[in-house]
Amino acid sequence: MKKVALTGIKPTGIPHIGNYLGAIQPALKLSESCEARYFIADYHALNSTKDPAVIKRMTVEIAAAWLACGLDPQKVLFYRQSGVPETFELLTILLAFTPKGLMNRAHAYKAMIQANAASGKDPDEGVNMGLYTYPVLMAADILLFDTDYVPVGNDQFQHVEMAVDIAQSFNHIYATQAIKLPQAVAQDNYKTVVGLDGRKMSKSYGNIIPLFASEKQLRKLVMKIVTNSQSIAEPKDPDSCNVFALYKCFAKEEQVEALREKYLAGGMGWGYAKQQLFELMNETLRPYRLRYEELMQNQDYIYQVLAEGSQKARALAAQKIASLRKIIGID
Ligand code: TRP
Repeated sequence: MKKVALTGIKPTGIPHIGNYLGAIQPALKLSESCEARYFIADYHALNSTKDPAVIKRMTVEIAAAWLACGLDPQKVLFYRQSGVPETFELLTILLAFTPKGLMNRAHAYKAMIQANAASGKDPDEGVNMGLYTYPVLMAADILLFDTDYVPVGNDQFQHVEMAVDIAQSFNHIYATQAIKLPQAVAQDNYKTVVGLDGRKMSKSYGNIIPLFASEKQLRKLVMKIVTNSQSIAEPKDPDSCNVFALYKCFAKEEQVEALREKYLAGGMGWGYAKQQLFELMNETLRPYRLRYEELMQNQDYIYQVLAEGSQKARALAAQKIASLRKIIGID
């Protein structure tokens, strides 16, 4: 039997190259060997976004992005968290097995109350209960589907470990193995994707290249990548160069070696290296960009894919909930 891989995708705007190389591509790769269940975590977004138009737009955009990158809804169970209300029943069950102290230790929550305290505010300012209990909802997302692997960034490892703790507590109390214990899988390419300024590519640093940037925008951004001030004649070190680091993310082995030699030989200017990177990225990303634009013109299709996926996911979830209700005596 194939292992189950599950991950939640937060609807937070159109992805950038770092998201693509670090999260989308590895998750799609994993879906070739696993039974994949990938969902849009729309109720998670409600904790921070109260604008209905924004939630709606971000949900279709992120769904279109994954479909454009090659997610095949015939192979991957692709759904919306809100389309599987059993999630929220499991959340209620799990809350009864979650020590309050466990939530106090969650990094995201701790960082918020520390920041509040540091600026002289009430520590709980701006912290709603959705945010506070976020790890329990995430545990419900995961545990509802007998998940083996959870592909996530390092910042989410603690949440997956909390899901394991909560599952173990349930299993222990009822002397059962009804809830499967998941395991986080690192998506660690992520940290190696550098942004325009050489720091990790991240929205919060303002150094991103959007995945579906137009050709013109892409060229402009690539030309902005920070390099040093060496002259054309000087030999250059590929391994400390931001342009080369990005080139490696897209190029084949032979292409990487060919450009490396040009760097080392001297006589190559930064404009040339950037042009090579632009052409390669543009060629690689063009089909995704076109497909994304096409999908966004046909949003009914996107909603239909998500509705069908949610219906299938619901059928699986209902079975799980029924078996758990028996165990707890609410059936
Ligand atoms: N918390 C995850 C993030 O911030 C998103 C998420 C929600 C998730 N539910 C999940 C990830 C379940 C994995 C499994 O990116």
